[in-house]
Amino acid sequence: MCGIVGYVGWRGAQEVLVNGLRRLEYRGYDSAGVAVVDGTGGLEVHRAAGPLDNLVAVLPEEDVSGTTGMGHTRWATHGPPTDRNAHPHRDVTGKVAVVHNGIIENFAALRAELEAEGVELASDTDSEVAAHLVARAFGADPDAGLTAAVRAVVARLEGAFTLVFTHADRPDEIVAARRSSPLVVGVGQGEMFVASDVAAFIDHTRDAVELGQDQVVTLTADGAVVTDFHGETARTRPFHVDWDIAAAEKGGHDFFMLKEIEEQPASLADTLRGHLVDGRVVLDEQRLSDQELRDIDKVFVVACGTAYHAGLLAKYAIEHWCRIPVEVEVASEFRYRDPVLDRSTLVVAISQSGETADTLEAVRHAREQKARVLAICNTNGAQIPRESDAVLYTHAGPEVGVAATKTFTAQVIACYLVGLALAQTFGTKYADEVAREYAELESSADAVARVLEAVVEPTRALARDLAPSKAVLFLGRHVGFPVALEGALKLKELAYMHAEGFAAGELKHGPIALIEQDLPVVVVMPSPKGRAILHQKLLSNIREIQARGARTIVVAEEGDETVRPFAEHLIEVPAVSTLLQPLVASIPLQVFAAEVARARGYDVDKPRNLAKSVTVE
Ligand code: G6P
Repeated sequence: MCGIVGYVGWRGAQEVLVNGLRRLEYRGYDSAGVAVVDGTGGLEVHRAAGPLDNLVAVLPEEDVSGTTGMGHTRWATHGPPTDRNAHPHRDVTGKVAVVHNGIIENFAALRAELEAEGVELASDTDSEVAAHLVARAFGADPDAGLTAAVRAVVARLEGAFTLVFTHADRPDEIVAARRSSPLVVGVGQGEMFVASDVAAFIDHTRDAVELGQDQVVTLTADGAVVTDFHGETARTRPFHVDWDIAAAEKGGHDFFMLKEIEEQPASLADTLRGHLVDGRVVLDEQRLSDQELRDIDKVFVVACGTAYHAGLLAKYAIEHWCRIPVEVEVASEFRYRDPVLDRSTLVVAISQSGETADTLEAVRHAREQKARVLAICNTNGAQIPRESDAVLYTHAGPEVGVAATKTFTAQVIACYLVGLALAQTFGTKYADEVAREYAELESSADAVARVLEAVVEPTRALARDLAPSKAVLFLGRHVGFPVALEGALKLKELAYMHAEGFAAGELKHGPIALIEQDLPVVVVMPSPKGRAILHQKLLSNIREIQARGARTIVVAEEGDETVRPFAEHLIEVPAVSTLLQPLVASIPLQVFAAEVARARGYDVDKPRNLAKSVTVE
C-alpha cells in the first residue's frame, strides 16, 4: 500500500504533488518522491527515505517550472526503505519515470529479461522494471504514443498495480494504469489529477472518476481518455465527493480505524498474493535451508496483544496440517521462563510493527539459544524481520488506528501461509492439497467483504444500544476462543469497558459467577456442520447463561437456525471453513468495539494510555 498522485495542468506541479502526498501519508511513510517534467525536455526527480518532510527538505525552494508530474509515498514491499528504492524510478535514459503501488509478481522474470539486454537496474524494487519496459516500448515506436507503450507493458504484468508514467518528451500528459489497486481521476478546470485516493486532490476539485479493473487513463490538462488494456474505450464511474478534507483521508469515516476495518478484504488478498509459485508456498525471505526447516520438531509462537491472538490461531493450523507441537506464548513471558530451545525449534514471532520490545527480546533470546526464527511482520525492514532467519510480510499497509484490525486478520492469514509452507516442507501435505488450502485462504477476502456488507450497520445499532453496559463477556470454543479474547481486548482498549474473553468450556469452572441480569454476553458459535459436537456444547453454554438473565449476542453461521431461539441478537456471518471462521467472526466484534467507543464519546483512533508500537519492555 503506497500513495500515488499525478498532475497535469497549469499550476506548479511540485507544490500540488507535495500537498497531495501530505494527504496520502497515511498510506506509507517509508520514503517519498516527486518527478516533474520541466517543459524543456528535462525530468526533475527528487526522492528521500523517511517521512515526507525529508523529501521537502531536499526539494528546490523555487518550484521548478513544470506543470506535469507525479509523486509517491512508499510503504516498502520489495527492497528496504532507502533513498535508492524510493519512487519515482527511471529508465536508463532518465526520460521515463514511474510510480507504483502494488506488487508486480513476475518482476523477477522481467528483471532477468532486461538484465540479459544489458540494462542495469538501479534499485531492489519490482517497480523499476516498468520504467525500463515502457521506455523500450515507446522508443520502438514513438509515434504510437506513450499510452500505447504503457498498454503493451501493463498487459505483460502479473499481480496488483497502480502505475503512473511520465515521459520527458511528452510534457503535456501522464498515463496511468490499474489492476486490483486503487486509482481515481480528479477532474478540474484546465487541470487533471490522478491519485490512490480523492484525499490527494480534494483541495482542488470534488469531481472524480473511479477507474475500473484493468484500465488505462491518459490525462492531459483538458481531460482524460480511458481505455482497457487493449485500447477499447472503457466505462468509468463519475462521482462527486461531498466529504470534507478530514473525512476524505479516512475514506468518509470519522476515524481511521473504521476505514481500516473496511480495508480487510484488500489486505487479506494482498498478503496472500504471490506466495504460491509453481505450486509451492514461498515466504518473502528465507535464510534457512529446506533441510534446516525439515529438522524442526517443535514450534513456539511469540507475540503481544492482538498479534498474540493471531498466534493462538497459528497453533490450530500448524498442528492440524503439520502434526508438530506448537506452543503459543506472550513474548514478555516467553523469554524469562527459560524455555527449552535448540536448533530444531522454530520460533514464529508475530509483530505488526516489527519493533515491539518484548517480541524483539524474545527473538534475541531464541537466537542465542540457537533456535530458528521466522517473523511475520507488517513493516518492511523493521528490526524483528532483520534479526530473523525467515520473514513473511503481511501487506496490510500502514495502520493508523492504535487498535489493530486489518493487521490482525492479515497476521492470521499469514500464520496459515506459514502452516502451509511448513506442511509442504515436512511432506505432511501434497502439492495439490497445499494448492487447495491456498485457494481456500484466497476465498477469505470475499467472505470478509460479504460480512462487511451485511453486518456493519446492525452491529453498530446493537453497540449503541449496549454502550451504557458496565461489562461484556465473550465466549468461544476451538478457533472461536481466540476470537473471543480479541473481541474482549478490542472493547477494553477502545471503550474502556470491563471485558473478558473465555473458553466457553471454562464457564462452569468460574466465570459463570459473573453472569447477572442483563449482562451482555457475546458468543462465537462454531459451524453446526464442521464442528457439530462443539456446536451442541456451546448451545448448552448459551442456555446456561440465558437462564441466569444474560443478554445473548450470538455470532453464528448463516442458516444456523438452531441458535436462533437462544440469541437475543443474532449476527450472521457466511459459512466458511473452520480455519477461516475467525476472520469472518472478528469483523463484527471490531465494529462493535469501535461503535461502543464512539457512542461513549472516545477517540477511536487514539485510545488513552495506549501506543501503536511499544518499544520498552
Ligand atoms: C501494542 C498495541 C497493540 C498491539 C501490540 C503488539 O500494545 O497497542 O494493538 O497488538 O502492541 O504490537 P505489534 O506491533 O508487535 O504487533
